[in-house]
Amino acid sequence: MDENPLLFGLDLAREPAPFTIVIFGASGDLTRRKLIPALFSLFRHGFIVNFKIAGFSRRNWSDEKFREEISAILEQTYRDRLNQELKEAFLHKISYISSPFEAGEGYRRIKENYSEPANKIYYLATPPSEYEVIIDQLGEAGLARPQAAGSNRACFTRLIIEKPFGRDLESARALNRKLASVFKEEQVYRIDHYLGKETVQNVMVFRFGNGVFEPIWNNRYIDHVQITMAETLGVGSRGGYYEKAGALKDIVQNHLLQLLCLVAMEPPNDLDPDSIRNEKVKVLKSIRPVTEERIRSETSRGQYLAGIIDGKKVAAYREEPGVSEDSVTETFVALRLALDSWRWAGVPFFLRTGKRLARRTTEISIRLKRPPHLLFEGSEISSSLANTLIMRIQPNEGMMLNFNSKIPGFTTEMRPVNMDFSYGSSFGDEPPEAYERLLIDAMLGDSTLYTRSDEIEAAWSYITGILSAWTESEGDGLFFYPAGSSGPEEAKNLLNGPEQRWRKL
Ligand code: BG6
Repeated sequence: MDENPLLFGLDLAREPAPFTIVIFGASGDLTRRKLIPALFSLFRHGFIVNFKIAGFSRRNWSDEKFREEISAILEQTYRDRLNQELKEAFLHKISYISSPFEAGEGYRRIKENYSEPANKIYYLATPPSEYEVIIDQLGEAGLARPQAAGSNRACFTRLIIEKPFGRDLESARALNRKLASVFKEEQVYRIDHYLGKETVQNVMVFRFGNGVFEPIWNNRYIDHVQITMAETLGVGSRGGYYEKAGALKDIVQNHLLQLLCLVAMEPPNDLDPDSIRNEKVKVLKSIRPVTEERIRSETSRGQYLAGIIDGKKVAAYREEPGVSEDSVTETFVALRLALDSWRWAGVPFFLRTGKRLARRTTEISIRLKRPPHLLFEGSEISSSLANTLIMRIQPNEGMMLNFNSKIPGFTTEMRPVNMDFSYGSSFGDEPPEAYERLLIDAMLGDSTLYTRSDEIEAAWSYITGILSAWTESEGDGLFFYPAGSSGPEEAKNLLNGPEQRWRKL
């Protein structure tokens, strides 16, 4: 191999056992954009050696045609950096099953033609409407239980399932029940790609690997927390999907609530996947439910109009392909939420996400309280007396503490300055892509970065309360914002404390 795996910082002692990965929805967008590049990257770095990839899709392709498609993806991703020998070796491991998801034939072929490697990972990368039928068929074909390999070797069968996991609490519960009727919970890996990001994993290391932050991580010292995930992209070609999802289900239910869990959770007893997930579930269960009376003071939703992004004119959401011209789907959500717990009583958490905003950024900002006695109140910039800690999840990954310093001179004036840590300058190398980390974890049987059934349901329980209140009011309460702005003006009304202002985008 032409790369040094140590640059990845992964533990090489944990090499996955030989496995076959079957990707359902192999001709789709996710396979093309994320899964194949991630699998190739793991192969190229020598992390996975003995494996087979079977693409499974309705499209009438041959093995050869599927390999050509994959070859094109790799050529496009790596261009002249692509090692042709390595590409050929990768393509050699790939084959294709053309079959409707509901037909037993395709599943029989898995059984007959892919008995080795016996360890199986099934990856559901199809539209969610296909999940149940595939789960049923895997069960009926006897593929859900580990297939004993030749000798008595223990082997595994795992299922990775993509988001969206359900549309509301009821459908998420139904999907969990369906999974439980065929697989054991420990076989199921519900993916949320945010958890695969290095900077997201670092939130726990930052909090619990240092002694200095945890003592102030509570309502005595923290004024409020803001979690922002802003994109400049619009919905692009995903209008059809997005119309049914909207920002609340697409981003808040999963990515933002996961970030909230990591910021707000209690220290787990150990790093066992269940110890960590138990603490996350407690956070989700402590979110105060939204009621219809409080819907306007705790939630704000918007939709983008035409505007300018990076100097270019972009269309309004309602003009995007696949979007209805009177759509009331939200492309922006801001929430004010309260956690009913000893640690967080009285500390508001503000969550915000949107498409076509001014800047692409995901960050967590912890606003500390002002000093209790304002010794320097008369100073020039007294409004900046509160410190802020910012965790930059992406881009420009890093951490920043903003504090006040005396301006050199004969007067006692002060000004905020920054202490800044950046991953790039401290560690140099690019971190692995989220999907690479998550795939290797599933191959190794580590489910820490995957979501458990009760975690999904606790997240949906809060989100479903908002959805019901919004459905009651239909489009009433949806505010518009020009593309390239910071979202609707009305979102400002959620913040009302003296230190509370949305961070600038
Ligand atoms: C996906 C959403 O889960 O996350 C997309 O469906 C969104 O709408 C994407 O664009 C953002 O991911 P990232 O890793 O680019 O922040």
